[in-house]
Amino acid sequence: MSDQHEAQPGHDVAIQDVAIADDNAQLPARFENPGLPAHHHRMGDTDPIAARRAERQVATLFLISMVATVGFIVAYFAVGDHDVVFVPGMGRIGAQNLWFGLTLGVSLFCIGAGAIHWAKTLMPDEEVIEYRHAMRSSDEDRDGAVATILEGGASSGIGRRPVIKYTLGGALGLFALPLGLQLVGGLGPLPGKDLSTTMWRKGLKLMRDPELTPIKASDVTIGSVFHVMPEGIDKVDDILEEKAKAAVLLMRLNPEDIKVKAELDKGYQGIVAYSKICTHVGCPVGLYEQQTHHLLCPCHQSTFDVTDDCKVIFGPANRPLPQLAITVDADGYLIAQRGFDEAVGPSFWERG
Ligand code: FES
Repeated sequence: MSDQHEAQPGHDVAIQDVAIADDNAQLPARFENPGLPAHHHRMGDTDPIAARRAERQVATLFLISMVATVGFIVAYFAVGDHDVVFVPGMGRIGAQNLWFGLTLGVSLFCIGAGAIHWAKTLMPDEEVIEYRHAMRSSDEDRDGAVATILEGGASSGIGRRPVIKYTLGGALGLFALPLGLQLVGGLGPLPGKDLSTTMWRKGLKLMRDPELTPIKASDVTIGSVFHVMPEGIDKVDDILEEKAKAAVLLMRLNPEDIKVKAELDKGYQGIVAYSKICTHVGCPVGLYEQQTHHLLCPCHQSTFDVTDDCKVIFGPANRPLPQLAITVDADGYLIAQRGFDEAVGPSFWERG
């Protein structure tokens, strides 16, 4: 053990001399045990038979792990890819996967259990104290370091050769530019209007997701909720990006329950469509409480009141969910009157 550490046989002995050993320290040089419980030795520390027993237990766990790993290799070669077995409660499952899971699980468990048992029963159980010394170097060392740097500067002659000094500065300064360009360029193109717009346009049908079938107003009964995407979402190149912005929840309320006239006007006979992207940090607002007409974001529990233009009634979001104005076409299918009147999702710098 180094001079920094000292075995501490028990907490019943007062801890001494633990204060920072700084010549100038104003801290007290010693303090009493603040009340730590007395240290108890384990059986293996005092009884060699118990220690040997623990050793055998640890070795047994490692041996079981080895057997399980061999079982995994055997299963890899002996069990066919398409073999299935019936497991009560789970039904028919792949035999190979079952053996892989079992053998690998047992193997890893026994390694972990063996290591923990080893640490708890056989590894050193001494408690130590560590003397803390000041991190600061002595004045002598510090002066020496400064002198070395100054001496290096003087011997390089850089003070007497300004041309070298300035050209070196220029070379190093310019060298940083490509790195900076790479860093900034690596952030990709500017987003432009991507954050403010979605692919919703006038006349686009509201489509069930994931079937992508159009929805008639008569399909939307009171209390029902539809996860909706714009018509043509499956044809765009960056489908994931568009889906992440354009997702909409469609619900039908009793028109008398809607408190805000603008919400009624943007809806159709009590059917209303709101962005599904939470205005906090953009999680999908996934839960609709039929009885209360509340939409709930599972990420941080922001709650929006659908009867009150999706205003925030709880949680960290600070803007209502944007509403998509909808109507029906000649065949009774729900369509968008236009795109969203505002950006969907969380705040960003350029947002008004
Ligand atoms: S993302 Fe919805 S509450 Fe945080």
